[in-house]
Amino acid sequence: MRASKIVGLGHYVPEQVVTNEYLSTLMDTNDAWIVERTGIKERRWMNPATDTVGNMAAKATRMALQRANLTEKDIEFIVFATITSDYYFPGSGVILQRELGLEGIGALDIKNACSGFIYALSIADQFIKTGMYKTVLVIGAEIQSTALDVTTRGRNTAVIFGDGAGAAILQASDKAGVLSTHLHADGRFAEELYVKDPGSSRPREERQPEQFLDTSGFKVHMNGNQVFKHAVVRFMEVINEALAANGMKKEDINLLVPHQANLRISQYIQEKLALRDDQVYNNIMRYGNTTAASIPIAMSEAWAEGKMKENDVICLAAFGSGFTWASALIRW
Ligand code: UT7
Repeated sequence: MRASKIVGLGHYVPEQVVTNEYLSTLMDTNDAWIVERTGIKERRWMNPATDTVGNMAAKATRMALQRANLTEKDIEFIVFATITSDYYFPGSGVILQRELGLEGIGALDIKNACSGFIYALSIADQFIKTGMYKTVLVIGAEIQSTALDVTTRGRNTAVIFGDGAGAAILQASDKAGVLSTHLHADGRFAEELYVKDPGSSRPREERQPEQFLDTSGFKVHMNGNQVFKHAVVRFMEVINEALAANGMKKEDINLLVPHQANLRISQYIQEKLALRDDQVYNNIMRYGNTTAASIPIAMSEAWAEGKMKENDVICLAAFGSGFTWASALIRW
């Protein structure tokens, strides 16, 4: 059967480094608390003069194309995972398509937060397996810094989230690549991690300009404890589901690239799977939680460091807003 394979990975992060020390000047927090609870030392924030979700994604794409020895013209379809598109609508897929000069090809947006990249990868994989496309660009990109409440009121989210973009080029192949994807959601928890505005649930009379003097609805709201408790359970469930579906055991995993939600979550999964430190790729220390971008940025760096070798079994897993959770098992 026709399979899909990742033939190129790339990433881009904004130049502006935001340290825990800097955040301590904006709100009541400190480096020790952030490192102990999350593992994060610094993250990147966009520069409004130069960075957009669309152009960060284009930079990540160009790196992926170059590494794959391909050009823009090889891309037949775009699947773009983001919850922070440049505009409320249209989505970021069309903006990236314009940036790449690919007028006419289809572009699809996926709004599944931290699980977005794996959902996007799964969709691209299905398009390739059915024979509809040969080369699909899969993106995870976010600018979250502009929606953070950087006062003490928002400190449980302001210290976590960061900006960045990652790209993967998926191509048809006769050899196994993406072995499986498993996708889940439980909308009962939608409001545990969300941004309310500008949602259509807001009645017209609340949409008057003076109402928006209270802009809290535009900021990220997260019930961190609740998210954490569900994350550790769902991460394990969806990884075990992937292993079982492929007749594999945890010992078969060569490298786990988890969504970079919180270093403590990654360490918990590492322990449960009995993986060595060099079998789990973490870069949350440097970038924070970049939502849909975190897995492709981490894969791009892991690949550049020689951590993904031919025939390796790579496991991707994510959990986040929705709640949504997902895994992918890949034969490299
Ligand atoms: O990407 C997927 C979705 N996101 C996640 O997976 C994140 C999951 N959740 C988490 O990572 C953690 O819940 C957090 C890192 C957000 C919070 O850590 P926690 O250990 O769950 O802390 P907490 O929310 O229980 O808060 C403990 C204390 C509170 O103070 P009191 O009430 O005990 O006096 C908070 O107000 O820590 C306080 N706190 C802070 N203190 C300093 C919360 N944020 C901060 C902060 N700096 N930035």
